[in-house]
Amino acid sequence: DLFGSRRNSRGLELADEQVLEPLLTAISMAGSNFGTAASIIDGVDVKGASRILLSPIDGKTEIGRVIDADAETASKAVAAMAAGFRPWSETLAETRASVLERAADILEERLPAFLAVLALEAGKTLADGIAEVREAVDFCRYYAAEARRLFGAPVAMPGPTGEENRLTYRGRGVFAAIAPWNFPLAIFMGQTAAALAAGNTVVAKPAEQTPLVGAMAVRLLHEAGVPASALALLVGDGTAGAALTADPRIAGVAFTGSTDTAFAINRTLAAKRGPIVPLIAETGGLNAMIVDATALGEQVTDDVITSAFRSAGQRCSALRLLFVQEDVADHMIGLIKGAAAELKVGDPRRPDTDLGPIIDREQTEKLAIHVAAWQGKGGVLFSGEAPGDTLAGGTYFPPVIIELPDAEALDREVFGPVLHVVRYKAKDLDRIIESIAASGYGLTLGIHSRIEATVKRIVERLPVGNVYVNRNMIGAVVGSQPFGGSGLSGTGPKAGGPNYLTRFALEQVVSINT
Ligand code: SER
Repeated sequence: DLFGSRRNSRGLELADEQVLEPLLTAISMAGSNFGTAASIIDGVDVKGASRILLSPIDGKTEIGRVIDADAETASKAVAAMAAGFRPWSETLAETRASVLERAADILEERLPAFLAVLALEAGKTLADGIAEVREAVDFCRYYAAEARRLFGAPVAMPGPTGEENRLTYRGRGVFAAIAPWNFPLAIFMGQTAAALAAGNTVVAKPAEQTPLVGAMAVRLLHEAGVPASALALLVGDGTAGAALTADPRIAGVAFTGSTDTAFAINRTLAAKRGPIVPLIAETGGLNAMIVDATALGEQVTDDVITSAFRSAGQRCSALRLLFVQEDVADHMIGLIKGAAAELKVGDPRRPDTDLGPIIDREQTEKLAIHVAAWQGKGGVLFSGEAPGDTLAGGTYFPPVIIELPDAEALDREVFGPVLHVVRYKAKDLDRIIESIAASGYGLTLGIHSRIEATVKRIVERLPVGNVYVNRNMIGAVVGSQPFGGSGLSGTGPKAGGPNYLTRFALEQVVSINT
């Protein structure tokens, strides 16, 4: 059996009214106000002045409040987790694993409540919310299984007669786990669960845009049995994050977010005296898909639409740059434009919505500036429609397709539903491959081709973390498609893969003269 005893969580058949109707009722019963997200240290909410959180769906629904942490709160959280390290690291791997499995079970039971907050705070559609809860569940169960495999017993290493060599893994100390707003549950819980499974205590910091999901996740982990002395929550903006990473008592940082922030964290860690601590960073991408003349039009269309526009393009894995072989370009682009015109932008809680809102006004404005610049140069091939009056205060952005003269015209990640297309001649394939490599990013890559040699040539030349051939290029599955990139896209190891936990651990070898 490929999967051993572990199974990924099951999906839901949303096309079935018997499944959809009760789910929608349960989601609306969860309400639209999720209380106050405060930092949690030793199980206690940290007090302070709070600020109102408004939903990106309409810009006016009050979904809760947040008490932003200051540097002093960050320091207190680290101190508490330093004190809690010994007992948690000495807890049996089996116990740590069971606690994470209990968290996964509770998460599955509370699906509707999490779908409600994911929609209202992060703008997640129903389908995206379900995928996100499933991924969080899978991370908890996968890292639990990995904790048993790696931490359960020492690994016997070879040695001469009369000598015994044993390799053991254990926690490093206090880990800072800093999560992004685009996967406020799955990545937040994944990083935290991995650090905990490996025997570390954790100060977990959600993105400033999504503290409510983060607070719900931490309360759930505590309820499942993670001791309050092993997991603290730090909510707030970059001030709290900077204080956290600068703290000399931190033993490691797991960060997912922008490449620029990863650079800043790297500088902070490098400037500290004291232990040299690992940074596990998963950042952005300038992800390309190459479509040659042998590709199947309908399949390419489906996969491009999913890869570029699902989650309103707010995935680090999303397709940004589509290379289409000139001979089929007019046909392919026509099909893609036709399919993009069918996409519905709107309230993410409606089952027929394809694209929910953009996370906030700042991100929306960046997209608008980018698209306006290409509008001026005559590059915009297609622009969809934003939703109507009732959602006027929301931060929506329609799907857009821009044709570029060449790949060099796009030199940074545009984080939203904007697809860039470049035509190429078959004889220039090597130059295309070079330009993808030259971007310095290496997260995801799509290839649509029926020629095995072409696929092989592209795959071998590009140090990209996740390559998808003749399918869409998002939604990596825990345990099946370990996820993460190289270069400007991150440090590795891959999340949801067999090498992830070891990076959170300290290795110790004991050699005994017997
Ligand atoms: N793991 C996510 C995906 O594969 C990250 O964006 O889409």
